[in-house]
Amino acid sequence: MSNSDNDKKIIEELQRKCARLQTEIDAIKIEQTNYLQNISHQLVAPLNAIKWHIENLTSGRMTNVDRAKKVMRSVYSQSTIAVHLAKNFALMSNLEADHALTALKEPLQAVSLCALAINLADDFQPLGWDKEIHIAVEKTNLDAAPDVLAMKPLISQVFSNIIENAVKYSSNGSTVFVRGRHDLSQDSVDVSIISRGIPLPTNVTEVFERGYRSENAKNKYPAGTGFGLYIAKRIVDIHQGSIKAQMISRDEAMFTVSLSVRGLEGKARIRDPKNRSSH
Ligand SMILES: Nc1ncnc2c1ncn2[C@@H]1O[C@H](COP(=O)(O)OP(=O)(O)O)[C@@H](O)[C@H]1O
Ligand SMILES: [Mg+2]
Repeated sequence: MSNSDNDKKIIEELQRKCARLQTEIDAIKIEQTNYLQNISHQLVAPLNAIKWHIENLTSGRMTNVDRAKKVMRSVYSQSTIAVHLAKNFALMSNLEADHALTALKEPLQAVSLCALAINLADDFQPLGWDKEIHIAVEKTNLDAAPDVLAMKPLISQVFSNIIENAVKYSSNGSTVFVRGRHDLSQDSVDVSIISRGIPLPTNVTEVFERGYRSENAKNKYPAGTGFGLYIAKRIVDIHQGSIKAQMISRDEAMFTVSLSVRGLEGKARIRDPKNRSSH
């Protein structure tokens, strides 16, 4: 083969590689645009609802106190959704950039999973009011479990994502149970969230895949990204804990998170106890 034939072949190969890369770049661009559209669409919904409720409250037309209270509850619930979504999107961009534990910049602190669950149940309860869904935190056992050493804002987002799903995908009038215990043999605290509604996929691990949403979930709740459980798993993995999904009866789904009491002791910065935030 002559030199010029060889050069021609190399150039053709490079052109093919360039074309392939361009196709990949185009696909990424489309994915990013869809992602941004999804985020703004999801954020606009609760913000519009808040705006509309406040307009109603300040118009002077609302004279019934009970009605006004109901509207305020809805404002609170919609704000909870907006804050929760915004936190997820911030976390998602950190995780997408493949930031490691240290880059997440959160110091470890002693976290009471019982107190955390009670606070989150309060936060998400308004979401369930319209469908008469109740969140019950069973304190027995969980109350007696020791604190776990963890990155509190991240662990809080793990449980928010699971509890939010439980409320979103539950049947009207059902109860979401949160229960947990100290596993002495593993020295871990295990917390389970049980809800009755739509079934999990046959291959349950699919729920932790980035962007996965079941057809049942899409029908029940069209707005969603399929990022909640992916984020939850990534955070639990960073903590070297475990997260598991299972069907415990025909229509009951259970998510269990296990976190070691000692957490990442010795592997991450521990927050100065004098400098604790109340987050
Ligand atoms: N409590 C639950 N009951 C039944 N299915 C659930 C539950 N939580 C999550 N799933 C399933 O896992 C999928 C992924 O959840 P998630 O990552 O939070 O995304 P999203 O809520 O945006 O759909 C859901 O779409 C649904 O199919
Ligand atoms: Mg979700």
